[in-house]
Amino acid sequence: MAALRLNDLKQYSDVLRAKDGSEIKVRFVERRDREELQSYIRSLSAGSRYNRFLGALSELPKTELERFIHVGEAGRFTVVATMVVDGFEMIVGEARYAFHADTSSVEFGLSIDDRWQGHGIGKALLKNLECRAASFGAERIFGDTLRSNTTMIGLARKSGYAFTNGAGDWKLVRFEKEILVKPQDIPCASWRLAAASRLAATSSLAV
Ligand SMILES: CC(C)(COP(=O)(O)OP(=O)(O)OC[C@H]1O[C@@H](n2cnc3c(N)ncnc32)[C@H](O)[C@@H]1OP(=O)(O)O)[C@@H](O)C(=O)NCCC(=O)NCCS
Repeated sequence: MAALRLNDLKQYSDVLRAKDGSEIKVRFVERRDREELQSYIRSLSAGSRYNRFLGALSELPKTELERFIHVGEAGRFTVVATMVVDGFEMIVGEARYAFHADTSSVEFGLSIDDRWQGHGIGKALLKNLECRAASFGAERIFGDTLRSNTTMIGLARKSGYAFTNGAGDWKLVRFEKEILVKPQDIPCASWRLAAASRLAATSSLAV
């Protein structure tokens, strides 16, 4: 399988819609976002941070923040969901995902600003992550969440995920979904394009 090159990936950003039609941009995090990303994490409620990071923290430790903003390092990617408010782009959500080539799967975690939860942004971002996973040629996408996180469990159920004990910790539940979509049918134009360019690279390697 030919890998997607990071420089090619960086050109992709997507526009999603909240339930009320508000426009949300999803793009890879950039180094210039370092401080704003940290402020976003700090501004989450303690409960949202606990659910997102599966433990108590008030902000991202420095080393973790550096990992977050180095997109593509160790096959891990961070995206931010942003909205323009009074002419300023502000972060209203984030997600981090990793492509595991050995198991042909993508693992992810995500969060939405407390003020924007319940507006359909998590659902739209999850669909976008599924497109990204499909563009890698992944066969499966999954995440782990606390058994007490009824919101994430509700979102995963509604989005067609199955639940397993695969997380290896009794406090956690794994939700996972098979990716059955063909590259040409990926329902996000930019990731359909990324998949096409990955396949073109594969076929040019084959001759
Ligand atoms: C979990 C989270 C990402 C969901 O995002 P969101 O934008 O609030 O969710 P949406 O508005 O898109 O809701 C999508 C679906 O989730 C379910 N859902 C949402 N809120 C729910 C709640 N309080 N209880 C149960 N199900 C809920 C519903 O099925 C909903 O669909 P519907 O509105 O059509 O009924 C968000 O609440 C969050 O960031 N929580 C804190 C961090 C976290 O828990 N991350 C998950 C770790 S993997």
